Amino acid sequence: MYYPDETVEEVRSRTDIVDLISSCINLKRQGANYVGLCPFHNEKTPSFSVSPAKQMYYCFGCGAGGNVFTFAMEYDNLTFPEAIQMLAARSGVALPEADENEELRKKDSIKKRVSDIQKDAGVFYYSVLKSDKDTAGYDYFKKRGLTDETIRKFGLGYSGKSGELYRYLKKKGYSDNELNKSGLFTFDERKGARDKFWNRVMFPIMDVNNRVIAFGGRVMGDALPKYLNSPETVIFDKSRNLYGLNYAKRTRRGYFILCEGYMDVIMLHQAGFECACASLGTALTGLQARLIKRYVNQVIISYDSDGAGKKASLRAIPILKDAGLSVKVLDMSPYKDPDEFIKNLGTDEYEKRIENAQNGFYFEIAVLEQNYDFSDPEQKTEFYNETARKLLVFEDELERNNYTEAVAARYNIKSEQLKRLVAKQSADIAGIPVTTRMQPKRGRDKKEDGVGQAQAMLLSWMANEPYITDRLKGYISADDFFEEPCHRLAELIFSQYENEGAIMPAKILNSFNDVNEQKAVANILNQDVPDRLGDKYEREKVLNEIVKRIRKQSIDRMTRNATKPEELQSLMIMRADLQKLHISLQDG
Ligand code: UTP
Ligand code: MN
Repeated sequence: MYYPDETVEEVRSRTDIVDLISSCINLKRQGANYVGLCPFHNEKTPSFSVSPAKQMYYCFGCGAGGNVFTFAMEYDNLTFPEAIQMLAARSGVALPEADENEELRKKDSIKKRVSDIQKDAGVFYYSVLKSDKDTAGYDYFKKRGLTDETIRKFGLGYSGKSGELYRYLKKKGYSDNELNKSGLFTFDERKGARDKFWNRVMFPIMDVNNRVIAFGGRVMGDALPKYLNSPETVIFDKSRNLYGLNYAKRTRRGYFILCEGYMDVIMLHQAGFECACASLGTALTGLQARLIKRYVNQVIISYDSDGAGKKASLRAIPILKDAGLSVKVLDMSPYKDPDEFIKNLGTDEYEKRIENAQNGFYFEIAVLEQNYDFSDPEQKTEFYNETARKLLVFEDELERNNYTEAVAARYNIKSEQLKRLVAKQSADIAGIPVTTRMQPKRGRDKKEDGVGQAQAMLLSWMANEPYITDRLKGYISADDFFEEPCHRLAELIFSQYENEGAIMPAKILNSFNDVNEQKAVANILNQDVPDRLGDKYEREKVLNEIVKRIRKQSIDRMTRNATKPEELQSLMIMRADLQKLHISLQDG
């Protein structure tokens, strides 16, 4: 869906950013701004700041930043048009029905068509499963212990041996182009279109809103690959979805059970664990973790108990913790996965395993332990050192001490001794560059060349105190900010001031489409600037220094590129004038 700029701007201007964000997280007033714990990374002390004046937010910890739209997109996992729709509904702005932009409308309609194809395919596979002609699929699910109700709830299906989905959908009026984009067919120049899923039982993958977005198909025997999955399409991005989330999101348990596979989720739901979901065999992503965090605060990992599953758990733990989730790991031994466990030991036993699930940190230590031979004193020492290093992840001292004591007790080492090791590791690690320690770094601490810094500061200053823009006229222009995104930003600031007599940073931010660009711009607009109430002469001095620096760099650059003598001549004059430059801030 495409919305004209005026509509977008109306929605933006009618949505107050403090109002919007404080409906999601706790904000406290601090001077002119509001601060809170950043929803985009895990932290204990607030570095997330919201400016009502700029209508923007910025996190000094992780660099997330933007306006009401970027916030809605990031926080609610929405596309730009979805964010517009959501905020329009919230602020009572009526959105136009039809859209003007042909290009975007097509893209939008292809999404709708591909989505319809998934829905129709789901209906088709389900009906094939239920038909009497070929019962292999139905028999397979029955043999695996699924009830009719479960089959219906998860919309399970069957793609028979005849591969008739293509013809079925053609008859429904879909074009080859649309079918090609659905990911359900292979198109071959000679052989034409063929069903990708053939002779497999089918698992529709649904998004949070119960719309089918893709499929997984399993062979009924031992052939390989065991599971075939839809490729990514215009509507399926597997890093943003979790299998079973459409049901799990309603749980009241306060936690999700995270497992690996389709059958695990389905079996758990059938057994009454309505909070199960799966990352579907792929490595868990930060996006998925943040998606989970929107519904619960805890995850109980129930990955397969084999080596691969353990490894996957170790990888998932920090990702989940980073999203602010507390993590536990469930022990399924002697069974391989939740599906087998439930079938063999039943619901009550699984419930007990949930109660006894191990804290993520102890799990990490327990896995670590297996790499060391404790009869060898050297290896034992190395294990303690490694453990001490791991204890450093707890930034909170009290928490770290608690864990240190618990680990010490578990491994029969004096807690004082372990604490000393931790302290030593902490000192050792202090020499390692900050970046490798995953410490939040402030945008402005980044090593940037002086001019880039000066440009950013001046732009931020202009946005903060628009009258400065007025004072700069004739001394500096947008072309002096020659690198993107500073150049574009400068153009927008100057023209907005010219046309509207005011500067609206959040509106300016909207003119940048790329998320990374928006981040960079948000970063620039949040640079520290000299205090408005500070000493006038000091402020004036700083301003003149910055402007001179930027101008000098710009003149240098023009000189390098100059080709005509008269050009060089005028550049020399400019350079001389620069010495005399003085911008006054008095009577401001
Ligand atoms: P598993 O191999 O553990 O399968 O893969 P499973 O879930 O226990 O399946 P059943 O019980 O034998 O039917 C876990 C998940 O990894 C993905 C699937 O999502 C699967 O559910 N996977 C596995 C694939 O995508 N392709 C494969 O070939 C295998
Ligand atoms: Mn299994």
